[in-house]
Amino acid sequence: MKKIRWGIIGTGNIAATFARALNSMEDSSLYGVASRNVVRAGEFAKRFKIEKSYGSYEELAKDPDIDVVYIGVPHTEHKNMAKLCIENKKAVLCEKPFAINSKDSEELISMAKEYNVFLMEAMWTKFLPTNLRVKQWIKEGRIGKILHIKATFGFYSDYDPDSRLYNPSLGGGALLDVGVYPISYITFLLDKAPDKIISSAIIGASGVDEQNVLVFQYKDGILADLSSSISCETGNDALIVGEKGIIKVNHFWRAESAKLYDNSYKCLDEFKEPFIANGYEYEAAEVNRCLREGLKISPLNPLTDTLSNMRLMDEIRKQWGLVYPGE
Ligand SMILES: NC(=O)c1ccc[n+]([C@@H]2O[C@H](COP(=O)([O-])OP(=O)(O)OC[C@H]3O[C@@H](n4cnc5c(N)ncnc54)[C@H](OP(=O)(O)O)[C@@H]3O)[C@@H](O)[C@H]2O)c1
Repeated sequence: MKKIRWGIIGTGNIAATFARALNSMEDSSLYGVASRNVVRAGEFAKRFKIEKSYGSYEELAKDPDIDVVYIGVPHTEHKNMAKLCIENKKAVLCEKPFAINSKDSEELISMAKEYNVFLMEAMWTKFLPTNLRVKQWIKEGRIGKILHIKATFGFYSDYDPDSRLYNPSLGGGALLDVGVYPISYITFLLDKAPDKIISSAIIGASGVDEQNVLVFQYKDGILADLSSSISCETGNDALIVGEKGIIKVNHFWRAESAKLYDNSYKCLDEFKEPFIANGYEYEAAEVNRCLREGLKISPLNPLTDTLSNMRLMDEIRKQWGLVYPGE
């Protein structure tokens, strides 16, 4: 089987993590990496045994030997990088959050349609075997009708107004960086958007949300309690409560196991599957599958879900009056 040739834009934390995943896959070839700095690109290429390195993102986007580009740069650069790749007829896997807002997301989605290229948000959580099993348990009615969902993703990071996490010019704040996980998770589990959102945030000195709590309410009686933080450890777990039982997913956004209980917390089932590499191989495998089958949108992570989640985040930010520079 011919290997799918990948290029990576950016040389930061997640680019390195994704490179490790690609290098573990037999049907992928990590062919090129681009940085704004040619030396950094060369060092990254050496570290991950990548054939080609480029001192500009444009050079990578224009290389005819690359099939698909992974975009691992700060949120505010996602739109420009995705546009650059799409214009050059490259398939794109773009890091989360897909863009800063739904307007930019719509622009990218219609551009990908116009150029007839594959485009997907790198919401890797949705492809993890554990989360696919959780969704299967729900579909099979193992916990009955869902009534309540709790999910949080919060960690402590030192306050640095210039960092990607706190700087509004780089799309800082908890909601876009980690709040996107509980929001995408609940959309993935329920296949619908909430009918009502109540939310609250602590806006810090740099003007971005350092922590937030979101209440999602659905007409059919489901209530969800979602939260995220970049300033305190709120945990990583998800609890899905149904009429007949409960599913507990530790570290839901990077889950390798889940447990199913009855209403008296007797464990009825457990799923455990350690990652083959580091967990990012599953989303990459889905991209490879889509490219081989000529799909332009992943049925497992459709752009309609991505756009719906971006619209929810717009609405939530509106409730707080949080606007990014240039919006
Ligand atoms: N899926 C996940 O689990 C996960 C985890 C972490 C982050 N992410 C996402 O991945 C993206 C990057 O996060 P990261 O933690 O990897 O960030 P990072 O370590 O700061 O790296 C970002 C890279 O982007 C490039 N870049 C381009 N324009 C830049 C600018 N204006 N300022 C700073 N860097 C710029 C830089 O590479 P060059 O200078 O070499 O070009 C830099 O190394 C974010 O959107 C984040 O949400 C996803």
